[in-house]
Amino acid sequence: MTALQHVKLGTYYVVHLPEPDDFAFWRERARLLIQCDVPPDRVAWVEPGGNGSLFSHGDKRLPLPEDDTRIIRASKRFLSIARNVAHHSDPERFSLLYAMLWRLQPSPRLMEDKADPQVRRLEDMDKAVRRDAHKMHAFVRFRMVEDEEGNEHYVAWFEPDHHIVRREAGFFVRRFANMHWSILTPKGCIHWDGETLRESGPAQKSDAPQGDPAEDLWRKYYASIFNPARLKIGAMLKEMPRKYWKNMPEAALIPELVAGAQKRESEMVDAGALEFEDRPETLEAIDKAIHACRKCPIGNLDNQAVMGEGPDDAALMIVGEQPGDQEDQSGKPFVGPAGQVLDAGLEQAGIERREVYVTNAVKHFKYVQRGKRRLHQSPTAKEIDVCRWWHEAERAIVKPKVVLALGASAARAMLGKTVSISKVRGEPIALDDGSELWVTAHPSYLLRLDGDAKAEQERLFAADLAAVKERLAELAQ
Ligand code: URA
Repeated sequence: MTALQHVKLGTYYVVHLPEPDDFAFWRERARLLIQCDVPPDRVAWVEPGGNGSLFSHGDKRLPLPEDDTRIIRASKRFLSIARNVAHHSDPERFSLLYAMLWRLQPSPRLMEDKADPQVRRLEDMDKAVRRDAHKMHAFVRFRMVEDEEGNEHYVAWFEPDHHIVRREAGFFVRRFANMHWSILTPKGCIHWDGETLRESGPAQKSDAPQGDPAEDLWRKYYASIFNPARLKIGAMLKEMPRKYWKNMPEAALIPELVAGAQKRESEMVDAGALEFEDRPETLEAIDKAIHACRKCPIGNLDNQAVMGEGPDDAALMIVGEQPGDQEDQSGKPFVGPAGQVLDAGLEQAGIERREVYVTNAVKHFKYVQRGKRRLHQSPTAKEIDVCRWWHEAERAIVKPKVVLALGASAARAMLGKTVSISKVRGEPIALDDGSELWVTAHPSYLLRLDGDAKAEQERLFAADLAAVKERLAELAQ
């Protein structure tokens, strides 16, 4: 009997998903079923723990298509929404996706029909998943515990609405690459030991520790960034739903801060503190102001702000990521190992460092303490964006003709969006003040490579610096 005959006789197919968020598995099975013309009402999609027994009459063996080369029509928009919807907690999500895929075959532009109730439902689910991911990024708070060997381990409790934990693991690995951490949730847990990501089953709130010194850091940070003049309670509650408050140390401050807001606002106005938003007009004023800056948590670490350095009319401004350990100690940019690579590159290209204004996208050193060592941590996109204020003020004074961004963080700082170095290097990008931006790799990236990869990246770095030198000569004429 062929697959088609199965369906005609009323065969019912049951697909058991190995994981509740396994989009790749769903896609592969859905393709097969469409190729066999199995209509949506003949398939049940059962997630782990779902009630598969309801479908015990189902045919466990999926059909084999007569023509497995048949093209399946799925618009880009559908696929991008479907990837998110697969993480929604609605038990009907995979059936809905299959029903939509089925309808897309004769009407491939169906996803553009905003009035279609199924399209709208999928769009709402897509939005809900993205919002949940955003909440997880913003509201996970780690508590420090010590393991049996006395090592620091950071543990957070989070209650997602949807199956987003595995999907968002990469975000936390990138952000907290040097820490050992676990995020415990009722929908499964993830653990990072600095090298490997591990998953485990659901946890309960009582499995997570409550309260530790990390809370003080967040409380201090939150109180320092809280601007009573900007208080919008409705917006605050929307962005920080009460559900998350209990996990967030700074939330304990909210009633107190709200109650004192008006008083503090008038005190701030009296003290001229609101004037802080005026952009400083000299490099000295910026230097002074960055030392007082607490607009993000990095400024609350035990570090000092590092100001840019160089002539205030330099034709070339080089922007790095953030000061490292040595820069933090000396208070000067690019004096450590990355600085040596930069200096050698500049020399090779015939660029005099003393004629260049060298600065950083982020003014404070972000690190995590490991014993006596302070390990570099990459700034988040938000921290880079907050610090934009300062290097833009520097640029407005120096007015360079060319800006060279070293690495992805610096490129983001200049462009306000994340770009891939390999795609943007080698060509100037026009900036709004008439100057041009060139992008190259960060010198510390070269330090981390070896062998052929290192040689290749060094060659590209040298070529980028040579192109900048040539461009500066052209502009000087
Ligand atoms: N890396 C940077 O990006 N900037 C410095 O100042 C030092 C290292």
